[in-house]
Amino acid sequence: MKDRIITTEFTEQDISTEPTLRPKSLDAYIGQNKVKKQMRIFIEAAKNRGEPLDHVLLYGPPGLGKTTLAGIIAEEMGTGFRVTSGPAIEKPGDLAAILTTLKAGDVLFIDEIHRMQRTVEEVLYPAMEDFALDIIIGKGPGAKSVRLDLPKFTLVGATTRAGSLSAPLRDRFGVTQRLELYNVVDLAAIISRSAQILGIAIDPEGAKALAARSRGTPRIANRLLKRVRDYAQIEGAGVIDAKTTATALKLFEVDEKGLDETDRRMLRAIIEKFDGGPVGLDTLATSIGEESATIEEVYEPYLIQLGYIARTPRGRVITPGGKAHLGLENAASDDVSQITMRFFDEEE
Ligand SMILES: Nc1ncnc2c1ncn2[C@@H]1O[C@H](COP(=O)(O)OP(=O)(O)O)[C@@H](O)[C@H]1O
Ligand SMILES: [Mg+2]
Repeated sequence: MKDRIITTEFTEQDISTEPTLRPKSLDAYIGQNKVKKQMRIFIEAAKNRGEPLDHVLLYGPPGLGKTTLAGIIAEEMGTGFRVTSGPAIEKPGDLAAILTTLKAGDVLFIDEIHRMQRTVEEVLYPAMEDFALDIIIGKGPGAKSVRLDLPKFTLVGATTRAGSLSAPLRDRFGVTQRLELYNVVDLAAIISRSAQILGIAIDPEGAKALAARSRGTPRIANRLLKRVRDYAQIEGAGVIDAKTTATALKLFEVDEKGLDETDRRMLRAIIEKFDGGPVGLDTLATSIGEESATIEEVYEPYLIQLGYIARTPRGRVITPGGKAHLGLENAASDDVSQITMRFFDEEE
C-alpha cells in the first residue's frame, strides 16, 4: 500500500504541497456541484439568521475533499476552525477540553469520526443537541451530574464509512453530504489549477490525460502531477502534454485508466482463481494478500465506478468491461463505451 503512487491515502509526499493546493472558498472548490449548491444555501441562510450552521456530516472515499470542504465551511461562515480526529480523542475528558475552549460559531472538524470511542461519542450527544456538557462530580453514591453550557458551535464530521457510524450519532447531523468520485473534466480543471499554483507548465491535453488516470480523486491527481513534472524535468520536455503524461505514467506502471499492478492483480485473481466470481470480499482479500477494508475503501470504489467489477449479494464479480481492460476477452464494444460515457458524464 505505502508504495502505491495511486494510493488515495495521505502520504509523506503530499505533506509539502497539499496545504498550498487546498481551495479556500466554495468558488475555488471544483466539481461536487450538488454539494456546493446545497452548502452555499445552508451557509447563506445560517449567516442571515445570525446562527451557526447545522452540524454537517461529510462522507466518501479518501482524497475527495472532505477536509478541504470542512475548512471552506468555516472560511465561508467567517468563524474559527478547530481540527481533531476520532482516533486522536482518547478519553471523554479530551473531548470535553476541546468543547469548552470553542468560541461561539466555531467549526469543530472531527476527521475519521467513525473511529471515535463509544464513551467519547456519548459526550458528543448532548453537546451536539443541546450545546451542553454533562459532567459527573464526585464518586460513588454521592456523585452528582452537573450540566455545563457550551457555546453554539458547528460540528463537521468526516468519514469514509457512513455505514459504521452509530445511529444516534448519525441522527444528530442536520446535513449529510456524500462526496462522489470526480469526472475527468473536473479533475482536469483541478490539475490545471494546481499546476498554476505550483508553477508547472501543462497543456489542456496533458491535464486531460492525467485526469483520466487519477481514479476520480483530486489527491491522486495532484500527486501524479508532481511525479510527471519530475519526469518532464529530467527528460527535458518543456510543457507537459498528453504524450509526456502517458510515457511518464507508463514508467510508474499506472495504465491509461489509472490502474496499477495491484488493481490488475485483483482483477486477474477474480478471473483466474474464482472463475470470474462471485467471490466474497474476505476470500478475495486473502487470495491477494490485502486487507478486506483496504479493498473495500481504496481499490474497489474506483473499479466499480469504471464498471470493471460489480458488487452482488453473493460477492464481487468481474464484468465484461473488466475482462476487456485486461485484454482477456473481447467484451461487446458498446458495453465498454457505455461504461466510459458514464464515467465522463457530468454529475448533474
Ligand atoms: N473540489 C476540489 N477542488 C480542488 N482541489 C481539491 C478539491 N477537493 C480536494 N482537492 C485537493 O485534494 C487534496 C485532498 O483533499 P482532502 O480534503 O484532504 O481529502 P479528504 O479529506 O476527503 O481525504 C486537497 O489538498 C486539495 O488540494
Ligand atoms: Mg481528510
